[in-house]
This record gives sequence, structure tokens and C-alpha cells, in this order.
Amino acid sequence: MVNVAVIGTGYVGLVTGACLAEAGHRVVCADRDEVKIGRLRTGVVPIYEPGLEELVRANAEAGRLRFASDAAEAVASSDVVLFAVGTPPLANGDVDTGPLFEAVAEAAAHTRTPKLFAIKSTVPVGTARKAERLVARALPRPVKVDVVSNPEFLREGSAIRDTFEADRIVIGCADPEAGERLAGLYEPFGRPVQMTDRESAELIKYAANAFLAVKISFINEVANVCEKVGADIRSVARGIGADRRIGPHFLNAGIGYGGSCFPKDTKAQLRIAENVEYDFQILRAAVHVNAMQRIRFANAVERTLGGSLAGKRVAVLGLAFKPHTDDVRDAPAIDIIRLLHDKGADVRAYDPVATANARRHLPDVELFDEPYGAIAGADAIVVTTEWPQVAALDLDRVKRLMTAPVVLDGRRAFEPEAMRARGFRYVGVGIPAEPASGT
Ligand code: UDX
Repeated sequence: MVNVAVIGTGYVGLVTGACLAEAGHRVVCADRDEVKIGRLRTGVVPIYEPGLEELVRANAEAGRLRFASDAAEAVASSDVVLFAVGTPPLANGDVDTGPLFEAVAEAAAHTRTPKLFAIKSTVPVGTARKAERLVARALPRPVKVDVVSNPEFLREGSAIRDTFEADRIVIGCADPEAGERLAGLYEPFGRPVQMTDRESAELIKYAANAFLAVKISFINEVANVCEKVGADIRSVARGIGADRRIGPHFLNAGIGYGGSCFPKDTKAQLRIAENVEYDFQILRAAVHVNAMQRIRFANAVERTLGGSLAGKRVAVLGLAFKPHTDDVRDAPAIDIIRLLHDKGADVRAYDPVATANARRHLPDVELFDEPYGAIAGADAIVVTTEWPQVAALDLDRVKRLMTAPVVLDGRRAFEPEAMRARGFRYVGVGIPAEPASGT
């Protein structure tokens, strides 16, 4: 059992803290936001993540997890301090490491016994080394504090499983003994640990996200070619994914990636490369393709509805950037709705959990927490998030509610053949207009 402080109770901090408590450690999650801490103390989790509230409550009740608004006290009572502070972009595109360095300096100022500081936030290469220098200056008395890099790879919607079943745990350290100590914290998870230097660990996080973004944009470009040549992206993706060097995952073509990580981290990495005078061309192209995919899809809606959206009612199903989250940050749905709206469409949108978060982005759009209200009177359905609730729609009812049965599926929520068999006009990304033979 290790005494752990987690600084920052955002997505990563809260999930990591709860999972480490579940593994048997004594964890205190600290955040400056007293309102948030107050709510967490009563068992209210501020983000939607399946299983998280239950995990937080169970571990709080068992006395392994507590919450503090005073970082000083949290640090003083811990041997390991994890930093999970947000690193948003500055106006000039640089990563804002200010809040992270502030948190590190504050923790150091309250450190009187040897500790291990681990940076979980996604940060430019060199941040751990800088933090180490900062710690040396801020310590009230000379005690040993190791600063290690420990990037996080969890996905929203499956964050708990991703934490317990991580493909790898990356630990970047200057002193191998410090790395081993951090590895001990994760030992109950029984996952493979990769020890490396701090700079490599920091770059692993950005390179992993960049690679995945490139993979998505690549398959989306292949899908665009499929549409032009009459091939089916499902077959193409299956065929290339069977090659173990490529792998079957992250080959779902559609309207591209959104969320808080890929858009932010790809742009951050482009900026970091630019700052060292390197033009990261393939990543630049991936970011551009991702933006274009939303525009292409909105254009496809317009084309499908006869070349003009003026006076057309469109039901957009899904606001979250992916299912099982209420996160609408950089969600393709938001951009696509704006594009459709600008083209003159009367847009109504549905999401089972994200309407509250979407409202401020879409003040002129009617939002629904249940799908049929959004679908009533629609000339077309546009699927932007593959929620299970969308796949489970009562299609006969849907058909009755619409002026014409037209579905544009940006996420392959439906099987094209099944939809066509039921009398829907189905348009998908990379799917031939007519049923293809031999797929
Ligand atoms: C991602 C990384 O996967 C995770 O390792 C990192 O720590 C944070 O960023 P997340 O943003 O939660 O996680 O979601 P993810 O499941 O990776 O999906 C990101 C976006 O890509 C979604 O909008 C999803 O719809 C899209 N996507 C994913 C595709 O368009 N096609 C795919 O094949 C896979």
C-alpha cells in the first residue's frame, strides 16, 4: 500500500485516483476547485464515465479514497504525487504548461520528506526535466524528490478498463530506482511496464496519438477513394487490417476524430515540431484531412437532399465525439450541425447524455434527450455518434415519423444492407451507393 496524492481531478486524475484506490492504495485527490471537491466528497462525479461514480463511492466508503482542496495537506501525507493537471493550448498554439508548473512548485514547497513526483499530464518533451529544476528551487529543505514521466493512454468511455488493462505502462525516469518505485504502485494491475528516459516517455504519448490520428485520416482518405471507384471501405479495411503489421483497430472510416485528446495533441505536436524547425508533414495532412471530412459529409447531406438544404429538416443523431461520453469537445457533430445550419437546414439534434454540454455551442438548434422528437418531420437522419440507442431505434416508427426514409450514416451505426432492405435510402462514408456484390 502506498500513500498517493493526485493533483488535478479532471478526467485522468479522477480515473487514475479511483483505480489506484481500488488496487489497495491510500489515495487523496486534490483540486483547487472547492465546489468540485465538495461534490466529490458527497459521491457526485462531475464527468460522465461508465462505472466511475460507483468506483469513487465504493473506495471513498472503504476509506481508501478521499478528496482535498488543500494540495499542501495532500502532498504532505503522500509518498507519491501524481500530476494530472490540464495542459490546454495557449493562443499562439504552444502548450500551456503554466498550471502544471505551478502545481509542481506548490507541491515542492510543501515537501519535507523524500517523494516521487510523476507527471501524467500530456506535456512537451523536456517538461519533466524542467519540473525537476523547479522542484530543486522550491523545496524548503534539501530532500530527495525524483521527477518521472508517466503518460496516460486511457480513452473516454472505457477509462476504467483501459487503466486496469493498459497495453503498457510507460515510465520515463532519470534514476532507475525511482522508476521501479513507480512501477510498484502499478504492480496490482499486472500490466507490462516499459522503462525509458523521460524525454522518450514524453514523446511516446504524442507519437501514439499522432499515429492513431494518422491511421484514422488514412482510412478516411481510402474511404473517399472507395466512393469514387465503387469499392466498399468495409472490405478494404478488413483486407488491410488482417495484415498483422497494420492491425484491425482504428480503421473505422467516417466523419473523423474529435474529443479532447486527438485534436489538441496533434496540433500541439505540430507546434512542438515547428518550434524545433521540423515540418511534421504527415501529421499536418492528417489534421487537414480530419477537418475536411466534416465538410465533405455536410456536402454529402446537401447533395443527397437534392442540392439545397433550404427549408429541409435534418435530424442529427449524436452530439458527443464518441459513444459513452457526454464530451462534445471538438465533436464532429457540432461542426457538421453548424455547416448544415449555415446551408439553411432546420436542424434538430439528439444525444442521450450530451445535450447539456452541447447547448452553449449550438444556441440556435433544438436539442433532444430522446431520439423520436428530433426525428419527427425530418427529411433526413444524419448519424454523427454511434450510440447503441441509435442502432436500437424502432425503424418502422422512424420511417413513419420522417417525410422520406433517408439516412446518412457518418459512423456506421447501421448496416447498409439491412437499412436498404428495410426501404431506407442509406448513404455511408466509403460505402457504394448501390449494394456491392461479393462483400
Ligand atoms: C484517445 C486515445 O485513444 C487515448 O489513448 C488517449 O489517451 C486520449 O485520446 P479518446 O479521445 O477518449 O482517446 O477516444 P478514442 O476512442 O481514441 O476515439 C477518438 C476519436 O476517434 C473519436 O471521435 C472516434 O469516433 C474516432 N475514431 C476512432 C474514428 O473515427 N475511427 C476509428 O477507427 C477510431
